[in-house]
Amino acid sequence: MVVAASWFGPTVTGTLALSVFTAVLGSFQFGYNIGVINAPQKIIEADYNATWVHRYGEPIPTATLTTLWSLSVAIFSIGGMISSFCVGVISEWLGRRKAMLINNLFAFIGGGLMGMAKISRSFEMMILGRFVIGAYCGLASGLVPMYVGEIAPTSLRGALGTLHQLAIVTGILIAQVLGLESLLGSEELWPVLVGVTVLPTVLQMVLLPFCPESPRFLYIIRCQEHHAKSGEDQVTTGIELQTHPKTHPKLTGRMDMERKVSIAELFRSPMYRQPIIIAILLQLSQQLSGVNAIFYYSTSIFQKAGVQSPVYATIGAGVVNCAFTVVSLFLVERTGRRTLHMLGLSGMCGCAIVMTIALALLDSVPWMSYISMLAIFGFVAFFEVGPGPIPWFFVAELFSQGPRPAAMAVAGFSNWTANFIIGFGFQYLAELCGPYVFLIFAVLLVFFLIFTFFRVPETRGKTFDQISASFSQHPPAMMDLDMELGKQSTELDYLGGEGSLD
Ligand code: GLC
Repeated sequence: MVVAASWFGPTVTGTLALSVFTAVLGSFQFGYNIGVINAPQKIIEADYNATWVHRYGEPIPTATLTTLWSLSVAIFSIGGMISSFCVGVISEWLGRRKAMLINNLFAFIGGGLMGMAKISRSFEMMILGRFVIGAYCGLASGLVPMYVGEIAPTSLRGALGTLHQLAIVTGILIAQVLGLESLLGSEELWPVLVGVTVLPTVLQMVLLPFCPESPRFLYIIRCQEHHAKSGEDQVTTGIELQTHPKTHPKLTGRMDMERKVSIAELFRSPMYRQPIIIAILLQLSQQLSGVNAIFYYSTSIFQKAGVQSPVYATIGAGVVNCAFTVVSLFLVERTGRRTLHMLGLSGMCGCAIVMTIALALLDSVPWMSYISMLAIFGFVAFFEVGPGPIPWFFVAELFSQGPRPAAMAVAGFSNWTANFIIGFGFQYLAELCGPYVFLIFAVLLVFFLIFTFFRVPETRGKTFDQISASFSQHPPAMMDLDMELGKQSTELDYLGGEGSLD
């Protein structure tokens, strides 16, 4: 069944659509848990206080409450940091699909702990729950782009990769809306708000058995050509017998090499050093752009900027965030990753400067509050044009099958570490720098822009192996292998081909 002869050209088969949808349910949860903690802060804090009173007969000291709350927010990224580092090992051991399936256990445990924290009068359960759901999200942030990148036809890899980010931003927006006090962000219902994260988990568990394992994983890592090829495993045309290591000795060296690339090797081997530095810097450009200063603290930023309904302005930022991810989805296969990333970084830099000027003039010129709100919306919009979606799938594109899992682990770890630093440090920075805090991000954005201009290649329309070949100074024989594997990758575009996977 062909569900869409899409705007991008190739057809999207039913199984491809189902597989991508199922995978990005994980990304949705990632976004949901980023956004969910913003609005109900005061209400959950009140419950922490009630627990304290119940235990110790006196109100919680302010400093303790601040620490407990910061911990509840930031421990999420620590969970993500730790688990994202394990993405490589787990995805090789279990395969991409089974790893996603088993990861759901974390979502159940995390959601359960958070949902039961109030009734159990335990802020420890809430904090532990945030840690565990963070671990879930860390794994999802590596597994989803890897799986989607591996099942996507070359010409749709960017667009389908952007769906990971689209699901994240949808999750953030839904969490912001449900977090309104009139919906689930109330004193009684906040446990439902944080616990409801298990629902997409159930859906994903039901759907995953109908999705194929990544054929590249089966074929190249497990050498299960028959499975990779069989209709049962939903992998159809395109893997030629001649490219199997056993029947095509010329490829054996390359296949062996594809099997084992450790994290240490990524940094040691000159072949991988350049792409891994690009992968890390792209992830840092995403986080150190300062976007999560907005998503974690938007309500108080809008308040300081004199905006009248900060909660609704936060939701406005969520809507802009979603809308511009869709824009990127349509542009990424036409304009290319590099151009969009640079456009996004420059736009964010401009908005950060406007925001700083507006905040600095706020006391003397009251209508500056509107300008700063518009600048924040613009900041978020430009983020989603490039720096939001692109780094996530770009890493999967930069590496061929062998080094990809280790590279995803390193990239994910860099992303989560920077996420933690911003989440934890922004408030202190804001106190220190006042209205000038976003200038720090403006400077960082200029640095990342220059780096992207000089170092980041365009990957649109190229196969994984053509991309990785472009980083290595191969002797001619090796180039032949890449060309052959490149051909094989093109042929692996089975999912977009006629009559496939339906
Ligand atoms: C990206 C980032 C995430 C951020 C989100 C905002 O997915 O990885 O940290 O919160 O975009 O849309």
